[in-house]
Amino acid sequence: MKPIKVGLLGLGTVGTGVVRIVEGHQHDLLSQTGAAIEVAKVLVQDKSKTRAVAVPADKLTESPWDVIEDPEIDIIVEVMGGIDLAKQYIIESLERGKHIVTANKDLMALHGPEILAKAAEKGCDVYYEASVAGGIPIIRTLIEGFSSDRITKIMGIVNGTTNYILSKMSQEGAAYEAVLKEAQQLGYAEADPTSDVEGFDAARKMTILGTLGFHSNVALSDVSVRGISQVSKEDIAYGKRLGYEVKLLGIAERNDDRISISVQPTMVKMSHPLASVNGVYNAVYVYGEAVGETMFYGPGAGEMPTATSIVADLVAVVRNLKLGINGQRGFSPYKEKKLKTDEQ
Ligand code: NAP
Ligand code: HSE
Repeated sequence: MKPIKVGLLGLGTVGTGVVRIVEGHQHDLLSQTGAAIEVAKVLVQDKSKTRAVAVPADKLTESPWDVIEDPEIDIIVEVMGGIDLAKQYIIESLERGKHIVTANKDLMALHGPEILAKAAEKGCDVYYEASVAGGIPIIRTLIEGFSSDRITKIMGIVNGTTNYILSKMSQEGAAYEAVLKEAQQLGYAEADPTSDVEGFDAARKMTILGTLGFHSNVALSDVSVRGISQVSKEDIAYGKRLGYEVKLLGIAERNDDRISISVQPTMVKMSHPLASVNGVYNAVYVYGEAVGETMFYGPGAGEMPTATSIVADLVAVVRNLKLGINGQRGFSPYKEKKLKTDEQ
């Protein structure tokens, strides 16, 4: 099979990890897919910036069209973030028959159904494993692993930044502002960390998980949200004295034809497995009527864990290309029934 050429939109924290894994694991990737994967072009805002990973100057561009319109590029990896431009570049790429891998939960939570409908129309793949819980393969698990079950509850710590902050406040009595700064330096936080600390990032992820788990197009506006900016060291210390850890929990529940989804700081009993999920780690608890209780745990943000999910998606697309099929989508544009939410 000829080498598969990838166009990378963004070379920040996640994009850098993608280049590192594609280069560093080339042999393993080749032996799984039978094709070499090559990062052929990379879109950045500023070509003159010093980069953490070496990319030949002739591969870097500040024009999205150099990537999107390159007929040799088969797959676009969108790791630039934001909504409007990212959506435009993805739709334009799909129009040109390119497959998409994205880490963009903001985009998928708001426009997932439209993007997937366009992908279906064009016979293209859209994979978005890295959009929820970094290195934990939870999207694949919900779409494929639990396709036989009826999921009734999804509960989790799905934001690494806030879990890092809450853990450090609890374990070290650290000050909120200082730990937030650390999380930013480590590349965990969003460009605007308000979306982390106010719970919006977790709400977007819960929108995606609720949609996939309950087979219903959940709207972001259906999720009730409260973040951690008002949680003090004293609240955490008080909770600990009573035997609880404070965690930012996303909780999605389905009862018959109703669903409710919320994100809020929650007192979690020390004996519950979610209470011992610390640092940038995420965990997602899934309850299915047939399977019962399951839980998935791993690093929820950061360069290499997130890039692991992206490159796994790349491998999936390359396998599909080889077989001449399309794979995982998840948000069905053809859903007829929408479950009711508490807001309706
Ligand atoms: P980042 O470090 O801020 O990197 C963004 C990259 O995109 C930069 O290389 C930037 O170029 C480029 N870029 C941004 N806007 C652009 C534009 N308009 N035109 C051209 N290039 C543009 O972001 P990140 O942390 O890697 O996150 C990327 C995406 O992954 C986001 O959707 C985020 O939510 C998601 N995500 C991140 C993590 C994480 O742990 N960081 C985990 C899961 C998902 P310059 O370098 O020239 O500025
Ligand atoms: N800012 C996000 C977090 C990145 O901290 O979880 C991973 O989606």
